[in-house]
Amino acid sequence: MTRTTRSNPFTPGFGALPTVFAGRRVEFADLDQMVERLAAGIYSQPRLVTGERGVGKTVLLREFEENLREDGHWVVRAVATPGDAVIARLTARVAEVLDTHDAFGRLSRAAAATVRRLAGVTIAGSGVELEPDTSVEDRALALERLLVEVGHLARERGVVLVLLVDEAQTISRVAVGELFYALQEAQTVTVSRRDPSGARLRHALPIGAVVAGLPGLVGHLKRAGSTFGERSRLLNLDVLSEADVRAGLVAFATAGGATFDADALDLVVDACAGYPYFLHVVGEQVWYAGRGQVITAAEARDGIAAARLRLEAFYDERLRELSALQRRYLDAAARLDPGQRSAAGIAAALGATSSQLASTWQALTARHGLLRPAGDGRLAFTLPGLDRHLQSGQEEPSRRR
Ligand SMILES: Nc1ncnc2c1ncn2[C@@H]1O[C@H](COP(=O)(O)OP(=O)(O)OP(=O)(O)O)[C@@H](O)[C@H]1O
Ligand SMILES: [Mg+2]
Repeated sequence: MTRTTRSNPFTPGFGALPTVFAGRRVEFADLDQMVERLAAGIYSQPRLVTGERGVGKTVLLREFEENLREDGHWVVRAVATPGDAVIARLTARVAEVLDTHDAFGRLSRAAAATVRRLAGVTIAGSGVELEPDTSVEDRALALERLLVEVGHLARERGVVLVLLVDEAQTISRVAVGELFYALQEAQTVTVSRRDPSGARLRHALPIGAVVAGLPGLVGHLKRAGSTFGERSRLLNLDVLSEADVRAGLVAFATAGGATFDADALDLVVDACAGYPYFLHVVGEQVWYAGRGQVITAAEARDGIAAARLRLEAFYDERLRELSALQRRYLDAAARLDPGQRSAAGIAAALGATSSQLASTWQALTARHGLLRPAGDGRLAFTLPGLDRHLQSGQEEPSRRR
């Protein structure tokens, strides 16, 4: 018996580092280049990682974090939650990083006081507590000053300070503007000296930033009046290529001590539709559909059927937050052939004009990220298989509550 609960290499869920990391070579190459340039004292744009739920933003950040730590760099990672608590969290993590590297004592008295005031932590770590009467603007400015100091310390040590902020779309509008303005300011501080000929040489502080969030993050930043989105390099995480899914599945099976037969592999690759979250949900069930060392096509079919209910629950979760009109708009889009899915085509199907429904498609693209422009004026569903899910819901209306 090879395929057991213990040997199952798939880990459905969110944010868990996978046993095997599939694809994302382009993104990692870009992030590595960013670090290399910062280490050389050259400014490097912040990276904005956007993508649908479950596409792999968090694990990209976490894998990158691990690589950075291994290389001795200073990493500060914070997950944002609604409001502005992320400022306190970042401050607390900066203090932890300094403490780990025996550098906390090098902070100026003012910066050490900032840490205590913003994060409510003593360096022994007494938890996160905010001074209730400091404004977001003041806290962001204090964080900026702290980052500049820590950037200088990192430079002295020959390492890069990298800030990783996840779930940035949840940060309140005021705080998102202030926080990223502060970050931008800290990143553009330069250190200059004269070379022997008297010419001025400038170096940027080695401060990097990678900010991740749902596709609506770019619009959220704009609405906050922030130019951070425009100034960042966008890394839009799409589904994995078929080749990456195939290679990933083979590597997962190997990690668990099994192999796919060729037909089984084709079926599972197809069912995953390139979507990392689905890869785990489907992979887990296919694993449990048999016990032998070789995963057969019949087992793949059984596993895919067993995974379907979970995938449907995932789609329903994404649809729950929509208004009735937004839902009707999506239903109409799903009924059309992919080639006919334009704003005008969908509006016509609903007996309206595209300008009458402009705010609806804007909300579905910018805020909810469920549709995206696909060239030639067409709109496409961002989540693979969502159109099929909506179609099946329309065939069997009794299944919808
Ligand atoms: N490149 C990958 N290789 C293997 N597994 C992956 C990969 N990317 C993501 N996963 C897996 O897919 C699932 C979803 O990934 P993750 O939580 O990073 O998504 P996310 O984009 O952060 O989603 P959310 O927006 O909901 O936070 C996790 O179980 C993760 O382990
Ligand atoms: Mg995530």
